[in-house]
Amino acid sequence: MADKNQLKFPNQFLWGCATSAHQVEGGLTNDWSEWEKSERRSNYLQKLNRNPADFVSGLAANSFVEQNADIACLKELNLNAYRFSVDWSRIEPQQGVFDETALETYLEFIKKLRASGIEPLVTLWHWPIPLWARDLGGWQSSKIIEPFCRFVEKTVNYLNVEVNFWITLNEPMVYTSQSYLGGIWPPQKKNLVAYYQVINNLATAHRRAYDIIKGIDNNNQIGIAKHNIYFEAKDNKFINRLLKTVADWWWNERFLNKIKDKQDFIGLNYYFHNLINYNFGRKYDYAKKSDMGWGLHPEGIYYLLKDLKKYNKPIYITENGLADKGDQHRSWYINEILKNVHKAIEADVDIKGYFHWSLIDNFEWSDGFEPRFGLFEVNFQTFERLARPSAQVYADICRNNRIFN
Ligand code: BGC
Repeated sequence: MADKNQLKFPNQFLWGCATSAHQVEGGLTNDWSEWEKSERRSNYLQKLNRNPADFVSGLAANSFVEQNADIACLKELNLNAYRFSVDWSRIEPQQGVFDETALETYLEFIKKLRASGIEPLVTLWHWPIPLWARDLGGWQSSKIIEPFCRFVEKTVNYLNVEVNFWITLNEPMVYTSQSYLGGIWPPQKKNLVAYYQVINNLATAHRRAYDIIKGIDNNNQIGIAKHNIYFEAKDNKFINRLLKTVADWWWNERFLNKIKDKQDFIGLNYYFHNLINYNFGRKYDYAKKSDMGWGLHPEGIYYLLKDLKKYNKPIYITENGLADKGDQHRSWYINEILKNVHKAIEADVDIKGYFHWSLIDNFEWSDGFEPRFGLFEVNFQTFERLARPSAQVYADICRNNRIFN
């Protein structure tokens, strides 16, 4: 007898986890790895009384070597999908010189996923770029677009037989704001013009890459992973609604609108709620917060999903998760998020998959190794993976394709 407290998900729903190359692979040389070791970065961290060595990605979780350990984690979770990224600098260490061994290693990994019944979603760019691309001017220069397209063509041709889903870009708006407006991530610029140029170059790169990937195989499904924020207008006041319209347009919609005729699905990354009360990010009394102080607001994903319905494309939640070393809130959060995803499905939004961030603990960009996003804890000395209790909860959801209300 069906349990009325059960909320079933559609057949064929993709249950996954997500990671990115720079955060887990280890052994990379790209603009990020060099920046992590730079004097500027080191001085800054020392002033904060932090040990610069804790903020160098180094071997990360050693995933490029530990393929089987990662696959064991995916299997333990009963996943049928995995989103990960390939690293451009590994595949093309020098401009025009492609490393076939690297491509072969990625292919082997993908074949192992397939053999375990796991659908790969491959992200082609999750932030770092090769040093030679940085020296061309990085994403601020339109000179990067041609080489990016060549890299995409080479990689997709190589992996295409085994891959159906491609994510060209991860969170273009987050990257541009942190790297070109906020001065936080490499190349640490605070320049409105550069910010604008980078957004445009990324949109052009996606549009061109889309045609290339479709040209290789018209069945390929292509999208980006878009970081959207749930902007909420406090008390529905006119001024707050007006600010919400502007924020939605700039942060949530503008990039998607630029590429809307060149995407087969929408990838949504959800982390933030922002309460607007005559200003952005007004104090909100979150009952629960992540280790990074991010307020956990699972209801927000419902509104974002409803809003994305207007694009009339299938939606995958390509990231959602939290830093929670003690695993206090993760099970609760996953369940609440999925309740809201289910509610959106009931409201006729075409949602086809959910990817938890993250499979394993990893290198959290400028925050180093401290934030722990993994369903599996990683010992960064031995690279051992150890399931946190929430992994069991997620594994049960994935196996049974349902949550409890
Ligand atoms: C990024 C990930 C990151 C995660 C947690 C997302 O914005 O795509 O690379 O680790 O958020 O901060």
